[in-house]
Amino acid sequence: MPEKILVVDDDVDSLKLIGLMLKRQGYEVIAANAGMPALQKAYAERPDLIILDVMMPDMDGYEVCRRLRAEASTKDIPIIMFTAKTLVDDKVAGFEAGADDYLTKPTHPAELASRVKAVMTRAAQQRGTAAAGGATGPSAGLSIGFLGVKGGVGTSTLALATAGVFVREQQDTILADLRPGQGSIALNLGLSNNHQGIAQMMRYAPNDINASLLNNQLLRHASGLKLLLSSINPQESQITITPENASALLKAMSAVARYRLLDMGAGLNRATVRLVRELNLTVLITEPQRPTLMLTQVTLRELKNIGVPAAKIMLILFNRSQSNYQVAWQEVEQLLAHEVAGIISPAPELAAQAAEAHTPLTIFQPEAVVAGQITKVVTEMVKRGGA
Ligand SMILES: Nc1ncnc2c1ncn2[C@@H]1O[C@H](COP(=O)(O)OP(=O)(O)O)[C@@H](O)[C@H]1O
Ligand SMILES: [Mg+2]
Repeated sequence: MPEKILVVDDDVDSLKLIGLMLKRQGYEVIAANAGMPALQKAYAERPDLIILDVMMPDMDGYEVCRRLRAEASTKDIPIIMFTAKTLVDDKVAGFEAGADDYLTKPTHPAELASRVKAVMTRAAQQRGTAAAGGATGPSAGLSIGFLGVKGGVGTSTLALATAGVFVREQQDTILADLRPGQGSIALNLGLSNNHQGIAQMMRYAPNDINASLLNNQLLRHASGLKLLLSSINPQESQITITPENASALLKAMSAVARYRLLDMGAGLNRATVRLVRELNLTVLITEPQRPTLMLTQVTLRELKNIGVPAAKIMLILFNRSQSNYQVAWQEVEQLLAHEVAGIISPAPELAAQAAEAHTPLTIFQPEAVVAGQITKVVTEMVKRGGA
């Protein structure tokens, strides 16, 4: 049975054209020329996909999208917004309203075909994981937090290098540096002019934190990576991120990118305690030295106490220096009674060069051993996070 697509547009020519393209590609097409009839057809016919025009006289596409998302019978139908506008704000508004993808007019048949296919495949995969009990919450994609058992173990390096892997694969990705006053992500990307993204966001009440507010604070790296940065003004270390604000920020991040990465720095504060419960995955970074492993033991116990299942904690051994006093991988696993999901080898030169070049090291030198190790770890993150 062919998949059924509902096309909604007030412009009849546009309706006919899109309908024709889709029929040629083997889909069954139903059409609506305004918001209200679109809702009625969606409820009655349960299409496999909806292509939705934004500008319509009776009700705009965002509103139609919101109503579809609010209704149990239609909330999971994938939606592609279709518009002549290409402004980032419109795109954000669309994602905020619950759209899965965006298409701009005029569209090429090949592009239409590939977007439609991609969105439907993704929806099918999500239904698959939901049916298997592996649903990851209402928003698609993945939220991954990076937590160091102490400072200096490589948390920010790994967060940034992970972002590099996603961006390399052309995934829509945002990286937030949750350490006001210690913005090492900004430093590593050569963006040291007092960026206050986080500080600005924290001036709002949780209810006011949303995607468009976040969008105003975002910076774009040359690689396409979206960044919410912290400044390097040490005075700003005093800024508290409340658990409520942290949670609201995570939600806003889910509306602006498919992959959300958070550099949570070291230790467990109230905000991180809240976040680790809401993230799809927490990557815990440690090093193979005895004192640090003691700290890791305690951190793992705490994470367990606050209700984070072991399966949601991915332990990474970051091996920044060669030492005779290193504890072997197997012994670490025994000591911590937790699987080591990945190991990262010493590469001080490469780490420094990548920082000099203001580039995540996975983009700077993707074929380096360490970049390969990180890429493998990222594949595992996606698997475990269930994206
Ligand atoms: N694979 C590596 N080998 C050696 N040094 C590294 C490696 N990766 C990163 N570093 C260096 O380690 C230092 C600390 O890393 P960073 O990510 O800032 O730690 P944290 O965020 O845990 O404080 C940085 O100077 C970084 O350049
Ligand atoms: Mg750091």
